[in-house]
Amino acid sequence: MRNRLFWRLFAAFTATILLTVAVSAFAMVAMVRAERQDALESELTVQARDIALLLRQQDAQNYGFFGREPYLGAAVKQKIVSVREEYNCTVWLAYANGVAYAVESDTVSAEQLRSDAMLEQLYRVLSGAEIHVRGLLDPETASTVTIGVPWLSSAGRVQGAVMLHISVADLKVDYSDTIRNALISGALSLALGTFLSLIIASSQSKPLRRITTAVTQFAQGNLASRIPVQGKGEIAALAQSFNTMAEDLSRLEESRRSFVASVSHELRSPLTCIRGYIEGMQDGTIPPEEQGPYLEIVLQETNRLTALVNDLLDLSRIESGKVALKPEVFDINELARLSVIKFERRIEEKNLNVEVHLREEPLLVRADRDRIAQVLTNLIDNAIKFLPEGGLLALSAREAGRECLVSVRDNGPGIAQEDLPYIFDRFYKADKAHTSGMGTGLGLSIVKKILEQHGQDIRVSSSKGGGAEFTFTLEAAQAPEKRKEESPNESL
Ligand SMILES: Nc1ncnc2c1ncn2[C@@H]1O[C@H](COP(=O)(O)OP(=O)(O)O)[C@@H](O)[C@H]1O
Ligand SMILES: [Mg+2]
Repeated sequence: MRNRLFWRLFAAFTATILLTVAVSAFAMVAMVRAERQDALESELTVQARDIALLLRQQDAQNYGFFGREPYLGAAVKQKIVSVREEYNCTVWLAYANGVAYAVESDTVSAEQLRSDAMLEQLYRVLSGAEIHVRGLLDPETASTVTIGVPWLSSAGRVQGAVMLHISVADLKVDYSDTIRNALISGALSLALGTFLSLIIASSQSKPLRRITTAVTQFAQGNLASRIPVQGKGEIAALAQSFNTMAEDLSRLEESRRSFVASVSHELRSPLTCIRGYIEGMQDGTIPPEEQGPYLEIVLQETNRLTALVNDLLDLSRIESGKVALKPEVFDINELARLSVIKFERRIEEKNLNVEVHLREEPLLVRADRDRIAQVLTNLIDNAIKFLPEGGLLALSAREAGRECLVSVRDNGPGIAQEDLPYIFDRFYKADKAHTSGMGTGLGLSIVKKILEQHGQDIRVSSSKGGGAEFTFTLEAAQAPEKRKEESPNESL
């Protein structure tokens, strides 16, 4: 993986650098060329002016024209030849009387001279301007530059024009410096790019590799596998999420294991007991007249098995979302009283004090009555189960705005802080030592599921040694006759 990431970064860097170097080399070449061309053109302008000056001096020495053929002194001829050889350009001299004359071996075709553009430029020069035009000789390719300067007589009158044509297509420019600079900067950036891609690739791929290793280990069953989190970037966030997920999964796995263990235990001990007594009755160890109490125990154990299986079925049914709620309006005070009464025998056995903070008048709520009865039963069952002899069980229900708060409190052993986040998890039992007869760790998760189904919430406040209080919310409802009066509002 490291190599792939490295090569990808490296390719991207290299491509970017090569492209940049190519573009800048191209721009540099064009710039150098334009500069060279400008320099050449201004040199040629100077040369043309020199020729014009020589012609003027020759005029001053009183040479002048002889008929239609102009006279060219040796100095002018020599200058023209040297300019032509040095710059490999074409030199024309045009006279104000309109006769073109080719100097030395330079020839002018009538066609070239007669083109409108050429004549126009020629007249401009003859009227005293200096010109500088491209493509006069070859309008298609425009690779020649024409420079024209007027040539004056000693009296200052325009006598004619000195025209130089030079092809810039084969303008020789020395690009070796430019290319060398481009190559050097390219090589430097490439070296820097390689270095950077190495650093970035390894700094990016190392955490990814660590994550891959951890995930692979986790998938192979090592639930303790975690990723060390470094920094704050996306990869750190990913590592953090993985760790959280791993934490959840391993806790789930842990509770599944302990559930299987405790269910097996819960099932085995009553079954062993039932089998023992029935075998005793069958082989006569327990005589028929003494069978009564033993049958009673067998019945109790069967009831416990049924309760356990029912809990499991309830939970799986609620979790799969198959049971639809049957909401109705009922008095929560009445339901709370009935729920306590169900535990009358156990309350008396343990000699518990019961405080019921319930008002006489009905406190109406809207919920599935049977489900809420189960919630209360599970909470009261827990309180009674964990309370010591002579402990206190307190129940209360009160209205709070649109909600109704129901609480079940005891002054028993309480729940340790570190167990609090998990007590609503399936199969979670804070007191891991407690065994037979003490439940399965399903009660509170059923409670939570039922309330979630109602869109309600349950909270617990407890501390070790300080008792426990479970408070849940219910939707408050109006009395049926009041509801009728306020029904327009209610429908909002
Ligand atoms: N009133 C309580 N006092 C102390 N601990 C409690 C109380 N209610 C619940 N717990 C803790 O929460 C755990 C989960 O409760 P529950 O889901 O009802 O399972 P069970 O009652 O089968 O153990 C209990 O095992 C216990 O450790
Ligand atoms: Mg319970």
